[in-house]
Amino acid sequence: MTVRTAVVTGAAGGMGALIARRLHDEGHQVLVTDLVEDAAVALAADLDPSGATAVGMRLDVARKPDVEAALARVRQLWGEPTALVNNAAMTQAADLMTLPVEDFARVLTTNTNGVFLGCQVFGAAMAANGHGRIVNLASLAGQNGGTATGGHYAASKGAILTLTKVFARELAGAGVTVNAVSPGPHDLPVVHRTVPEDKLAAVVAGIPVGHLGDPAFIADMVALLVSDRAGFVTGACWDANGGLYLR
Ligand SMILES: NC(=O)c1ccc[n+]([C@@H]2O[C@H](COP(=O)([O-])OP(=O)(O)OC[C@H]3O[C@@H](n4cnc5c(N)ncnc54)[C@H](O)[C@@H]3O)[C@@H](O)[C@H]2O)c1
Repeated sequence: MTVRTAVVTGAAGGMGALIARRLHDEGHQVLVTDLVEDAAVALAADLDPSGATAVGMRLDVARKPDVEAALARVRQLWGEPTALVNNAAMTQAADLMTLPVEDFARVLTTNTNGVFLGCQVFGAAMAANGHGRIVNLASLAGQNGGTATGGHYAASKGAILTLTKVFARELAGAGVTVNAVSPGPHDLPVVHRTVPEDKLAAVVAGIPVGHLGDPAFIADMVALLVSDRAGFVTGACWDANGGLYLR
């Protein structure tokens, strides 16, 4: 079997941790990265205490030197990267009409810069190697404007959907696919943290299928998109939103 090496950002907890675990279970060597170094290192140690197939590292996705350092680390550990999952994001609820421009800019730039830099730095390396898979975590909020999350978060996710198409077109001829997964509300800590419990009941009642999404299935979608056989899918956005947004 081909040795496969994946980098997952924002993988200290939530969806990113499930994705990192899933890719590791599937035989990838995984660089587990997050702003929160301790948690990334702990997850990697849990995946492989020997450190042979999983390593944790601090990575701020908004900083190009950090992204370049992650690429260098992968090369030093295992060789060329074959998959990148741009999962890290700042999720915040905020009142749109009183949202300070500083907060707007911080969330927008962190979330979009992370995807931009990941696709640029890893996309170039993968293109030079003739193969690669990049998956960007977008959101239903980027498609319908969002419900509980702020305008900065929703705008950043819309930009991520566009960046996915731009990089997909740029890299398609070099064997590198770039796709987005667009989840609606999932049963994850950030949802319970961001949405007050009384409002969450109303959110769930408004989901056509009647329940929050199972984040393990998002990990399944990512695993399929990074597989060798997914080479004909690029520039796509795969939705998982319980029927909240139909197109
Ligand atoms: N949870 C949901 O229902 C839901 C719905 C739609 C989209 N998403 C998307 O899925 C992804 C994961 O969601 P989650 O629920 O696990 O969120 P989360 O907030 O629990 O996890 C995000 C992770 O990203 C990290 N992070 C934040 N800023 C960072 C930075 N600058 N550099 C590196 N790491 C950083 C955080 O430390 C955290 O570990 C996000 O992109 C989110 O927008 C989630």
